[in-house]
Amino acid sequence: MSRRVKLLSMNPTNEPPPPRHPRDFLDSTAGYADAFFQRLFVNRVDYDSTSWDETVREVEKTLGGNAAKVLSEPALEKAESDVRNLLADIPPDEGFHKKWAADSLLARFSYLACRLVKPEVAVESGVAYGVSSAFILAAMEENGWGRLHSVDLRPLRRNTRRFHAIAVPEKSKERWSFHPGSSRRILPKLFSEIGGGEIDFFLHDSLHTLRNMRFEFDEIWPRLRSGGLIVADDVERNGAFGELKKKEPSLWRVVRDRETHPLHGNKAPVTFGVVVK
Ligand SMILES: C[S@@+](CC[C@H](N)C(=O)[O-])C[C@H]1O[C@@H](n2cnc3c(N)ncnc32)[C@H](O)[C@@H]1O
Repeated sequence: MSRRVKLLSMNPTNEPPPPRHPRDFLDSTAGYADAFFQRLFVNRVDYDSTSWDETVREVEKTLGGNAAKVLSEPALEKAESDVRNLLADIPPDEGFHKKWAADSLLARFSYLACRLVKPEVAVESGVAYGVSSAFILAAMEENGWGRLHSVDLRPLRRNTRRFHAIAVPEKSKERWSFHPGSSRRILPKLFSEIGGGEIDFFLHDSLHTLRNMRFEFDEIWPRLRSGGLIVADDVERNGAFGELKKKEPSLWRVVRDRETHPLHGNKAPVTFGVVVK
């Protein structure tokens, strides 16, 4: 089977990419300006950190459950191998930057968190290939309930749009709602759409600027239920994640470790944040 046929067969409906909207250009341009501003004026932060193993132990202690058992579930192994095969089949000059896809530890942690928290409502910002979405949805399938709301800009390039959310399995799509647009524009609307109820899990993996991360955390925090969990990628880029510590959460950790079984490419160093309210 050719690489292209194999790739399309992973997204069996081969749905057309979502249509572009003039707002997409404005959202993207605002993001570029924000990222440029951050590069010039915002310092990186060297947070105290903990290893993967330590963090898993602490999360298990805080939330209860059996992390080792969850991490050896066949559903997690299947999600990992499906995503690994999918990413390996995407030619290097097509799709999104591969490094945009959630790393193996962030993806595993999102699965673990969603098995322990058992969210009814999960929200994530930043989809691209949909790797993190696939792991969250795999956990929801195991839980037997839950809905994931994913917010992302629609890719501007047609060639890239074909790959949008390609890792989300067809069978999980009934648990999944995609909300196109910037998190700044979409999150406030989303909360009223879902009836102003509480959120159990939030993953930040969109634009890692101080302005955007602060906005997303400020939107999510009041709506996150007690015992709910936030996972945020690349928290060292600015001080927004540190501000969550001041809200006196049950657990606040920055994980710094190295991949052992990457989903693509070489084993990479990894940093992400975890908060339990
Ligand atoms: C690192 S990638 C997400 C990867 C994804 N979580 C995965 O595991 O495959 C970042 C994504 O954030 C999106 N993005 C950038 N700025 C955004 C914004 N302001 N609001 C929502 N999404 C944004 C980009 O379009 C891109 O798809």
